Amino acid sequence: MLAVRAFDALLRERGIPYFSERPLAPHTTMKVGGPAEFFVEPRTPEELAEVFSAAREGDIPVRYLGSGANLLIGDAGVRGAVIHLKRFNTRNGFEVGAGYNLAKLCKETAAEGLAGLEVLAGVPATVGGAIRMNAGGRHGEIASAVAYVDVMTPQGVLRRLSKDEVGFRYRRTSLDGAIVVAAGFALRPEGAVRSRYDAILDEKRGSQPLGTHNAGCMFKNPPGGQAGRLIDEHGLKGERVGGAHVSRKHANFIVNDGSATASDVLRLVDVIRARVPAPLEFEVEVW
Ligand code: FAD
Ligand code: EPU
Repeated sequence: MLAVRAFDALLRERGIPYFSERPLAPHTTMKVGGPAEFFVEPRTPEELAEVFSAAREGDIPVRYLGSGANLLIGDAGVRGAVIHLKRFNTRNGFEVGAGYNLAKLCKETAAEGLAGLEVLAGVPATVGGAIRMNAGGRHGEIASAVAYVDVMTPQGVLRRLSKDEVGFRYRRTSLDGAIVVAAGFALRPEGAVRSRYDAILDEKRGSQPLGTHNAGCMFKNPPGGQAGRLIDEHGLKGERVGGAHVSRKHANFIVNDGSATASDVLRLVDVIRARVPAPLEFEVEVW
């Protein structure tokens, strides 16, 4: 308790914007879950380093939030601090802040005739969250368009990582708890990029329940298979627990119809796992 008060006091003393017991559901695309004990929005790398230092002093756990498009927040919410880099949202040519809206960046670069990010058309994310998850799909992954990634370690040290040091794999990276603050992209001029962007976006709109409350694919594809196809083949489309159901458009999406709780979603996950024999590993991160 003392430590928590000290963290609180340090943030206030240093004028770092934060909220106590901030509801997280509105900060996610699934729209479920409880509050964050502290929700911190540093404006500069210096403030971010101060947040880390205060958290170390107070022994406060920290988590990072982008646009909440790959998160399932538990109904009880989370203790400790959630760091939101919404102020790190500037773009300077090929160098882009972690809080920058990825959908906007994909659209902008496609309009500028720059190829590399159009493969991510229709993926809701911030640049930081997309890098951490190595967001991608059938047409490619963000890794292919990354030149370097600037991170801050929980010790408050800024480092520029080469692409190899980021350790990009299928929906994974090796950032070891560091927070992405910015990324440099390597994009190439190409005439056909705009029409490819439009086609990829159309394909996504046709095959996924965009515009509903969901967190994208719930499960990673198991080796040699597709989670969506497996869930569909076991007759689970439309399966429901409370306000959560398996999308009829794409079976690897769980949709909150507006009244779901996180526990509805987790119980539905149990129903799916009980019926599908292949191991289904979460892609979504559960807090
Ligand atoms: P969040 O969900 O906020 O966070 C995800 C993870 O990244 C968490 O571990 C978080 O702590 C970490 N994180 C966030 N910001 C940072 C940071 N600055 N530094 C370090 N770690 C950070 N994903 C795909 O890969 N391909 C798709 O085609 C796709 N389609 C989707 C469609 C829909 C409709 C939805 C809702 C989701 C979809 N997703 C897809 C999932 C989601 O868009 C991606 O996982 C995306 O990368 C999440 O980014 P975010 O900023 O929302 O991260
Ligand atoms: N399928 C079904 N039924 C369904 C859904 C899919 O039979 O309900 C079949 C499709 O017909 C297709 C196959 O399964 O033959 C694969 O489906 P799809 O092309 O939609 O791709 P996916 O493997 O299900 C992956 C990513 C998506 C990404 C798409 C498109 C994963 C877990 N998912 O989906 O990423 O948008 O490719 O590029 O890797 C995400 O990660 O959150 C995500 C949405």
